[in-house]
Amino acid sequence: MENLSNTLNVGDKSIVLPKKQGTLGPDVLDISKLYAQTGMFTYDPGFTSTASCESGITYIDGDEGVLLYRGYPIEQLAEHGDFLETCHVLLHGDLPNSTQKADFDYRVTRHTMVHEQMARFFQGFRRDAHPMAVMVASVGALSAFYHDSTDITDPTQRAIASIRMIAKIPTLAAMAFKYNVGQPFVYPKNDLDYTSNFLRMCFCVPCEDYKVNPILSRALDRIFILHADHEQNASTSTVRLAGSSGANPFACIAAGIASLWGPSHGGANEAALKMLGEIGTVENIPHFIARAKDKNDPFRLMGFGHRVYKNYDPRAKIMQKTAHDVLTELGIKDDPLLDVAMELERIALHDEYFIEKKLYPNIDFYSGITLKAMGFPTNMFTVLFAVARTVGWISQWREMIEEPGQKIGRPRQLYTGSPRRDYTPMGKR
Ligand code: SDX
Repeated sequence: MENLSNTLNVGDKSIVLPKKQGTLGPDVLDISKLYAQTGMFTYDPGFTSTASCESGITYIDGDEGVLLYRGYPIEQLAEHGDFLETCHVLLHGDLPNSTQKADFDYRVTRHTMVHEQMARFFQGFRRDAHPMAVMVASVGALSAFYHDSTDITDPTQRAIASIRMIAKIPTLAAMAFKYNVGQPFVYPKNDLDYTSNFLRMCFCVPCEDYKVNPILSRALDRIFILHADHEQNASTSTVRLAGSSGANPFACIAAGIASLWGPSHGGANEAALKMLGEIGTVENIPHFIARAKDKNDPFRLMGFGHRVYKNYDPRAKIMQKTAHDVLTELGIKDDPLLDVAMELERIALHDEYFIEKKLYPNIDFYSGITLKAMGFPTNMFTVLFAVARTVGWISQWREMIEEPGQKIGRPRQLYTGSPRRDYTPMGKR
């Protein structure tokens, strides 16, 4: 006897919807045959109740504030590992042993240079172009340089494209930063770890030696771990949909960067820091809280709320601690922005509106304070998010491509436009 809970009555038809169970989290009802059986679509514009795929990469329990990469809790990976180890976990499914770690680090390190022609590609931009615009363009342009890793049907090319993306994204990000500030590009150095290499490419200038601060490098490496993947968020879903047509991985990652740029998504870290600056002092907080609660005011507290987390974003807790570590290391005793952020969080978490709507700080709330203290301008914050998320995007892209029976994604719609009507000649309009 079919489990009655899976039966859907549509008009005079009774449709059985098969239920699929995962390892963790909600079960799903398979509706893939619904249109054929009923002539009706389901309707879920923001995908609030829709699972778009099956995945074994990242699991989020929004009610409990849990985030697992391949089953490993984010807190443990951030505490004990480094970013390239997390890249191995996401891409290959498990923690690397010492040989695998050394090999992975070696392969990524030796792909950090970009084709020398890329430097000329940058010259076409205005110096004040937003670095995210430069990133969308330059990552998409990689497919014009690396033809030997764009055949998505070849597992070897998929593997090399994945390594190239992870390896070259920090180099392109540093180039976007240097171009924006009018300083010469800095080449990667193979004797530096991934994040130290990135910091040096961003902050080294030809006039003097640059010594990486290991505390800051460790802090940024941890920030990359926190941002590495997050289930089927908007930008990851964009990468999957772009990839489902067979587009090459560089073009798919460029699409992901474009989606991440929005202030409701990865652009929130830049918007959150601007908001903290706009609030300015602790005394102004009540006014902005009132605006956030006012239905007629489009203002929202940037860095607050989440589609999935209805509890504290576990990444935000680690980000807050990292902010304190960095400010302490840099001898920044009283950062007014941090004071405003801490007080804003305290007030919001005790306010009925935020409690009832389950609005907590998300990963973007504290990241800007840390990145600003490290010397990054606000227009680089979302670029740094993209650097970290590239491994998540490419891991999810590979999982989608390697899915048996993978099909192009092609949603339908509820049509509310004009019924059929005939063309009216100009003289009769
Ligand atoms: C990221 O998906 C991911 O996993 C994303 C991400 C990742 O790692 O990939 O986690 C990264 O994008 C984090 C989120 C960053 N964005 C922001 O901080 C922008 C501010 N937050 C919001 O815009 C909002 O919370 C979203 C976009 C994050 C989530 O929006 P939802 O799930 O569509 O929720 P909603 O807009 O329907 O809000 C529910 C209610 C609404 O009130 P009602 O209409 O029900 O009365 O909560 C209110 C909203 O008005 N609300 C807020 C609010 N966020 C939601 N009110 C004030 N301030 C806010 N920040």
